[in-house]
Amino acid sequence: MKWNGPIIILLAALLAAAPASGKDPVDHGSEIFYGTSLSTNGKSCSTCHPNGRTLEGSSNFKVTQLPMIINECIRNGLGGFPLLLDSKEMEDLIAFMQNLSVR
Ligand code: HEC
Repeated sequence: MKWNGPIIILLAALLAAAPASGKDPVDHGSEIFYGTSLSTNGKSCSTCHPNGRTLEGSSNFKVTQLPMIINECIRNGLGGFPLLLDSKEMEDLIAFMQNLSVR
């Protein structure tokens, strides 16, 4: 039988990229934060910011700065590709971080 690996990987990527419809933004942001979906080096945000520690204050950053900072961390920390500034992933990551500061 032919090896269908590439097709399976492509399908998995498409599924992963499907819009997280109806998902709670904070839950979705948390999945991104603890997961490696943005990463090419196996690290997650939580590798360097365990359980979001030290980020509780980040909701104090100007909302216009935060996406830039996050993208720097994605690029330098995760070896990944920056997110579009107004993407759902970016919005939900920020929702997750803002939620840290109210706990
Ligand atoms: C390889 C380590 C590393 C990874 C991975 C990483 N960061 Fe960072 N991040 C840092 C460092 C270092 C700083 C600057 C020092 C600090 O404030 O802790 C920082 C700062 C930040 C800040 C500014 C907070 C502040 O108080 O200065 C935010 C927000 C942030 N990171 C979010 C994220 C998010 C979201 C991810 C995942 C997409 C991520 N980081 C992944 C290392 C990392």
